[in-house]
Amino acid sequence: MTGALDPGADAGPDDHAQREVLHLLTGAWRTQALHAMAELRIGDHLAGSPADTRQLADLTGTDPGALTRLLCYLVGLGMLRRTDDGRFGLTRAGALLADDHPDSLRGLALMYGGPCYQAWGSLLHSLRTGRDAFSEVFGAPFFAYLAARPELSETFQRSMSAGTSFFGAVTEHIDFNRARVVADIGGGTGSLLCEVLRAAESARGVLFEAPHVIEEARRHLGESGCLDRCTLVPGDFFAEVPVTADVYLLSRILHDWDDDGCLAVLRAVARAMPDHGRLLVLERLMPEGDDDGLALAWNLHMLVTLPGARERTLAEYRELMAGAGLTLEASHALPLDVTLLTAVRTPAA
Ligand SMILES: C[S@@+](CC[C@H](N)C(=O)[O-])C[C@H]1O[C@@H](n2cnc3c(N)ncnc32)[C@H](O)[C@@H]1O
Repeated sequence: MTGALDPGADAGPDDHAQREVLHLLTGAWRTQALHAMAELRIGDHLAGSPADTRQLADLTGTDPGALTRLLCYLVGLGMLRRTDDGRFGLTRAGALLADDHPDSLRGLALMYGGPCYQAWGSLLHSLRTGRDAFSEVFGAPFFAYLAARPELSETFQRSMSAGTSFFGAVTEHIDFNRARVVADIGGGTGSLLCEVLRAAESARGVLFEAPHVIEEARRHLGESGCLDRCTLVPGDFFAEVPVTADVYLLSRILHDWDDDGCLAVLRAVARAMPDHGRLLVLERLMPEGDDDGLALAWNLHMLVTLPGARERTLAEYRELMAGAGLTLEASHALPLDVTLLTAVRTPAA
C-alpha cells in the first residue's frame, strides 16, 4: 500500500548519499556553466532587462537550442529566473556576473572556469609530483604566463579585486590615522590600498607591483579616485622593496610562494621598514586541528596553480617572520576566513 496511509512512502527513496556524491561529482559542471555565462556576458546582456532565448542567442552568437539548456540549468543554480512570459532575467547572484556590477565576480568566473580549471584538470600531476599543474599544462609558471598575456593579466587582476569584503574590514582593526605613508607590496591594482586611504585621509599610498601590472593599476586607481594620493613603483619584491613607509601591506602574497620565496619577500620588506614601521599580512590560515575552513580548499588550489604555493598555519607564519627579523604581534579574524596578522621589527638583542 502506498500514499498518505503509508508513513514510509512520503519519505521517497533514501538516495541522500548518492545525491550528495552526484552533487560533488558535478561541481565541475556548475563551474563551467558559470564560466560560460561569464564568457558569453549573459550577466551584461540581462543587466538592463530580461530577454528571451532567441534574443540571447543572437547577442551571444550561440545555438538557441543549446543555449536554452544552459539557461535552464542556470535557473536551477539560482543564477537566472524565468519571468511570467518565459523570458530569462538575472537573480541577485546572477547579477554578480555582470562586468559593471560594483561587486562583480565575472573576473573570478573567467579565471576559475578558465586557466585555473584547466590546471585543476591535472590535479593528479600535482599529487604525484608535488609540483604545480599550471606549469605542466601551460608550459610556464602562473605569474610568468600572465606577464606575457596582458588581457589574461587584466582578468586575473579583476578576479583578485572580486569578492574582497575582507579588505574593508582591515580598517576596522587598524587605525591608519597616524600613518603618513602606506605601501601595498604586490598590491594588484590597488583595491586594498584605496580602502586604507579612504580611512586615513591624510596618508599617501605607494603601490609596489610587477612592471606589467603598473599601467592597469594606474587606470584602476584613477577610476577609484585614489591616483592623486598614490605613487606607483614597479619592481621585484624578491630583490628589493625600495619604499619607505609607516605601514606595509602584504595581502595574499606569501601563500603564493615556498618558504624561501616568503623569506626573500619578508626580508626585503624588513630591510625597507623604518624602526617604527609595521607590517600587515592578509592570508587564510590553515587550521591547527581538524577544523574546516576555506583555507583547506585554497591550499589545494595553491598546489595546483603556483610552484611551491600553500596556505600556512599561524605558527608557520610566525616562524617565517622570525626568520626575516620580524615579530608577529597580533592576529584579527576578517570575513571569508581571512586573517590579518600584524608584525614589527624584532628588537636587536
Ligand atoms: C595573489 S595576487 C595579490 C594581489 C593583492 N595583494 C590582493 O590581495 O588582491 C599577487 C600579486 O603579486 C604580484 N607579484 C607577483 N610576483 C611579483 C614580484 N616578483 N614583484 C612584485 N609583485 C609581484 C602579482 O602581480 C599579483 O598582483
